[in-house]
Amino acid sequence: MKKHKVPLMIANIGAPQLVPQGEKKPLGIEEARRAMAMVGGDILAIHLNYTQEVVQPEGDRRARGVLAAIKPIAAELPVLAKETGAGISRTVALSLKEAGVKGIDIGGLGGTSFSAVEFYRAQKEGMELKERLGRVFWEWGIPSPIALRLSQVGLPVVATGGVRNGLDAAKAVSLGAAAAGMASQMLKAAEVSAEAVAQELEAVIAEFKAVMFLTGCRSADELARAELVLTGMTMEWATSLGILGEMRHGA
Ligand SMILES: Cc1cc2nc3c(=O)[nH]c(=O)nc-3n(C[C@H](O)[C@H](O)[C@H](O)COP(=O)(O)O)c2cc1C
Repeated sequence: MKKHKVPLMIANIGAPQLVPQGEKKPLGIEEARRAMAMVGGDILAIHLNYTQEVVQPEGDRRARGVLAAIKPIAAELPVLAKETGAGISRTVALSLKEAGVKGIDIGGLGGTSFSAVEFYRAQKEGMELKERLGRVFWEWGIPSPIALRLSQVGLPVVATGGVRNGLDAAKAVSLGAAAAGMASQMLKAAEVSAEAVAQELEAVIAEFKAVMFLTGCRSADELARAELVLTGMTMEWATSLGILGEMRHGA
């Protein structure tokens, strides 16, 4: 496992905003650099949130040219391509690698749903069509465990989307993640206090260590080589995609 600076600071811009959207001028390398400078970023995350954009009232729905727009930015800055709840497929992972990104955050289905977020916004604003789109696409996407395996294309992979505790994080590592991330779980703690966030992180670390102990794995690398048992929806997806062996034993 590679060592990273702690805390690793990640700046963030949207992929849809890198191409012209109607009258809106696209963002480019200058804005990307500015985003990094704003937070002292070590890495620039470019998020692919087209499911959200489809449901969003003011959504940017043009996708053509996005990969070409990521390329020059990835040539200059360390780019992490990330989904935001719909997961990354193998085709997309390979295209992103080709575009020069340095890592992939799978942002898989199973956690925060931005269709759901936009559903509630549309409901509040009385936008019936968008409300319906939000409801229909609430669970659109590739479940996180499947996206994790599909994104193994020789780049470090970050697992987000439904990671709720250290056991989930350990499962993610066993499926090939270099790191796991949590949004909603940490935000819930952050609403309480900074101490609650620290406590939550301590619990996650204790849970992760418990998995290492109980499985007899001495390192995260060993955990990543563990043989896996698949159940439920993960099993169904893996069978349907014909990746059962790859899922259980690694790529
Ligand atoms: C309130 C909220 C705001 C978010 N904003 C962004 C964002 O601006 N850019 C981004 O790439 N992801 C954003 N995310 C997505 C998270 O980074 C993460 O990929 C996703 O929520 C899945 O993790 P979770 O299931 O633990 O929430 C946001 C998530 C939440 C809950």
